[in-house]
Amino acid sequence: MKYEEALKKVSEYGQEHVLEYFQSLSENEKKALLQQIEQTDFSVLAKACEGEKELMRGVITPIPAMKLSEIAEKKDSFTEYGTQMLREGRVGAVLLAGGMGTRLGSDNPKGMYNIGLTKEVYIFERLIRNLLDVVEQIGKHIHLFVMTSEKNHEKTVSFLKEKKFFGYDENYVTFFMQDMAPASDYNGKVYMETKGLMSASPNGNGGWFSSMKRAGVLDIVHKAGIEYLNIFAVDNVLQRIADPCFIGATALKNCAVGAKVIKKAAPDEKVGVMCLEDGRPSIVEYYELTKELMEAKDANGEPAYNYGVILNYLFRVKDLEEIVSKEMPLHIVEKKIPYLNEAGETVKPEAPNGYKYESLVLDMIHMLDSCLVFEVVREKEFAPIKNPTGVDSVESARALLQLNGVEL
Ligand code: UTP
Repeated sequence: MKYEEALKKVSEYGQEHVLEYFQSLSENEKKALLQQIEQTDFSVLAKACEGEKELMRGVITPIPAMKLSEIAEKKDSFTEYGTQMLREGRVGAVLLAGGMGTRLGSDNPKGMYNIGLTKEVYIFERLIRNLLDVVEQIGKHIHLFVMTSEKNHEKTVSFLKEKKFFGYDENYVTFFMQDMAPASDYNGKVYMETKGLMSASPNGNGGWFSSMKRAGVLDIVHKAGIEYLNIFAVDNVLQRIADPCFIGATALKNCAVGAKVIKKAAPDEKVGVMCLEDGRPSIVEYYELTKELMEAKDANGEPAYNYGVILNYLFRVKDLEEIVSKEMPLHIVEKKIPYLNEAGETVKPEAPNGYKYESLVLDMIHMLDSCLVFEVVREKEFAPIKNPTGVDSVESARALLQLNGVEL
């Protein structure tokens, strides 16, 4: 993009200040800023005036879940069908690793975190090991797509190469970068991080499929004949990935998506719960769960909203292609955003000073017609690492890994 085009684009959104220091930049910096402007979607900034508000919700009712007892009864047929699908190459896996992992507080990508005690055990290593269990079982590699962001791409790629992909066949690994969204003050004015760079952050995990499409990675999906994509979070070190039983169940039930869920540990546990919203599958975030919903009971007297999502979903590709061009709800989140002060120095604020704009994968569920809510054993599949200590932390995940016989 040329300077004049960039100026025209930013002027349309009232963001001319991003070019204020342009003339003082080096040639490389100029190029980088023009490229950033070209790639940035400024339209989200118009939503700043709406602030951090709850999005409108429809009528929430319970959704039936396939519980452990039912899964146990049908385990053999589900597993057989899922195994066959995997052997035919009809399933790929997508690792969502574009997040900033701010709560963990490491400068490196979250997957590079060493959770070992007596030896090195990296988060990426645990995830790949889990996937390799299935590879060994079916006798075939599974395509693994790794979503990174501009902020962590290089480190992620070089780390995995250096570690020889922890034994995974490199030919089956494809990286793609997710799109970025600008970060702004409370009036929707983009912050500059340096004189030649706008403050921007990854646009949320809901952008994974559109980013995959834009990066040209869908061609690989089509060429390989992949019909389902199992997306999973980088921070749950226990989850089973490309799980044949889950795949078989979702496909045999002819659902557009399958969602692995766990029974909540307490009514107020901080996990999003599956539900129906205006009759369509949906997820209520924990902070949206009213007392009434928390206390509601189903026909058997069990809590009606009792199954929490663990960010492990199996999406049918053809259904994703139908929704990819539809607009997704935008979540506006208050954050601490580095900015350039009047003296031209970068400041890292101590308190939130503006908004980040994100779309979330859970909103994709509501855009689809059918969802299999598939219960998994909490102690065997849920060990998220969000914080260094306390709840959902390195400590709690270590304890759960050891409980499952993993040496650390
Ligand atoms: P989280 O919501 O925990 O966010 O991501 P995070 O950025 O990793 O961590 P905090 O909130 O800053 O501490 C859940 C999953 O979604 C991915 C993360 O990498 C993680 O696997 N994610 C999140 C993305 O891939 N892109 C994003 O823009 C956001």
